[in-house]
Amino acid sequence: MKTRVSELLGIQYPIIQGGMQWVGLAELASAVSNAGGLGILTGLTQPTPDDLRREIERTRARTNKPFGVNLTILPSVKPPPYAEYIKAIVESGVKIVETAGNSPREFIATFKEHGIIIIHKCTTVRHALSAQRNGVDIVSIDGLECAGHPGEDDVGGLVLIPAAARVLRIPVVASGGIADGRGMAAAFAMGAEGINMGTRFCATQEAPIHDNVKQALVKGSERDTALIFRTLKNTARVYGNEVARQVRALEYRPGGCVFEEVRPLVIGTRGRAALQDGDVDGGVISAGQSIGLIDDVPTCADLIERIVAECRQRLHTASGWAGA
Ligand SMILES: Cc1cc2nc3c(=O)[nH]c(=O)nc-3n(C[C@H](O)[C@H](O)[C@H](O)COP(=O)(O)O)c2cc1C
Repeated sequence: MKTRVSELLGIQYPIIQGGMQWVGLAELASAVSNAGGLGILTGLTQPTPDDLRREIERTRARTNKPFGVNLTILPSVKPPPYAEYIKAIVESGVKIVETAGNSPREFIATFKEHGIIIIHKCTTVRHALSAQRNGVDIVSIDGLECAGHPGEDDVGGLVLIPAAARVLRIPVVASGGIADGRGMAAAFAMGAEGINMGTRFCATQEAPIHDNVKQALVKGSERDTALIFRTLKNTARVYGNEVARQVRALEYRPGGCVFEEVRPLVIGTRGRAALQDGDVDGGVISAGQSIGLIDDVPTCADLIERIVAECRQRLHTASGWAGA
């Protein structure tokens, strides 16, 4: 399965495990890379740049295949020391970075100087075009279905991916709502040269999260997510649990709310505890609509092989229908 994405990244299958706060640790990233995809460590899950250096080494001890590091650039009153995290990435010899959130523009030159491939993840065609102008190598585009931040435009992948693929010169990775070979085949048909998944990789044996969360994904349907922070113009798609309901109740009460009022509900420590201790109602858990396509908790290797086989079969069947 060769596309510009698999060639640029040096991987067997163009399947990427997107950066995931608290989930993108060495265990998962190495399992995905060993299975022929691209595993990605989440840079800011590590409390310090030195911890990131150690996590990169832990990943190296588990795989000799390529893997990447996600750097999520968020607006913040007290931003993390991005330059120090980048130094850790560069000095550790990692050759693939996934940027997300705000524009990675100011960091691109440094990555390029060190021969690092940049995958920029964004949610609009205009941001993808601007990332291309700024010199990123691949754009990964998240449709409205995705876990995490889908942006404010509410365009689903079925429109967003072809809209991006037909105007971009650099390769496109389809992200959001993909969990099986049908989604991968659709992504190829729409002009993408790879797929990125988050939620599906949470429900794998190697994902370093509590089994209760994995079982909630298995049991849940495509209707079990909620959009929060819409009224604060920072929309996030999360698992539709008790905390998400409480946040929405505050947001949609008459007069709305300010972030300070929801902060105690959404603080990272509660989200992290929910993932690690398995209290699925205890904090915010990012999750996408692809919950509705998840029925089991396979190993990453079984999952990837299954997706690739199903994608091939779907494309074969569809090309028969098309008389190709
Ligand atoms: C638990 C979880 C945490 C996530 N954290 C981040 C993050 O820190 N940075 C980021 O760029 N994307 C994050 N994402 C988004 C994923 O990288 C990916 O873009 C998204 O999950 C794709 O949509 P899907 O879940 O429908 O596959 C997260 C997703 C999940 C499920």
